[in-house]
Amino acid sequence: MDKRPDEVATMFDDVAPKYDVVNDVLSMGQTRRWRKVVVEAMDVKAGQRVLDLAAGTGTSSEPYADAGIDVIACDFSLGMLKVGKRRRPDIDFIAGDATRLPFADNTFDASTISFGLRNVNEPKKALAEMLRVTKPGGKLVIAEFSQPVVPLWRTMYTEYLMRALPAIAVKVSSNPDAYVYLAESIRAWPDQDHLAAWLQEAGWDSVTYRNLSGGIVAVHRAVKPGAESGPAAGAKALAAHTGPVAKLRRNITRPAR
Ligand SMILES: C[S@@+](CC[C@H](N)C(=O)[O-])C[C@H]1O[C@@H](n2cnc3c(N)ncnc32)[C@H](O)[C@@H]1O
Repeated sequence: MDKRPDEVATMFDDVAPKYDVVNDVLSMGQTRRWRKVVVEAMDVKAGQRVLDLAAGTGTSSEPYADAGIDVIACDFSLGMLKVGKRRRPDIDFIAGDATRLPFADNTFDASTISFGLRNVNEPKKALAEMLRVTKPGGKLVIAEFSQPVVPLWRTMYTEYLMRALPAIAVKVSSNPDAYVYLAESIRAWPDQDHLAAWLQEAGWDSVTYRNLSGGIVAVHRAVKPGAESGPAAGAKALAAHTGPVAKLRRNITRPAR
């Protein structure tokens, strides 16, 4: 089932023209709701710089551009990038491989990847690369298909993935085999806790996740360690301090009532 990186890129080149329409059909419109949660989790502001990795046609990048955020949509499928650039000429689309990102260290205030990490040939390398290009204290948000937590829901969903989805793909996509591969790659993908462990191994801090649609999708969040400014960092430094500052705190007396 594993595909080489060039086969993955070619597959996305092929599905690019109808990618967004097919996505909407196969997810029964749920992708819009999932994307909203990702943008909320990113919590970025105008003027900040965001990396949207494996951005494809840029649908996952659009909300940032619309909010005045400097978003870079990076992907290695030129077919997907071309469709995106035609639709949104105002967004910066950059060709790049997730395992060898063409950006300097500490470039982005936050990084995100939606429904793409699973397709990257070496996902752990991509996690390390996103850590490298994100600024210390910057955030990472990943949206990816995951494991439904309730057994009955998991069985129904697996049936949908393995039977209904390929049948619908035959009707709506020019490359139904691609959707068989995508369904199989969802089944083979690690569950929520496993992905959280990968993030920690890669060096990300404060790793948490939230299940959407009963765990069909999980949104993982993490922070790059090393921020040295802001009130939270000040409070942390104070708590860790055992010298004169700690002494000073013990000597503070309560005002008389
Ligand atoms: C399912 S699409 C997701 C697109 C977009 N993020 C979205 O939410 O609609 C997955 C994307 O991952 C890209 N991709 C897979 N492996 C990659 C890699 N090694 N480097 C860059 N992009 C990659 C594919 O080209 C494809 O556009």
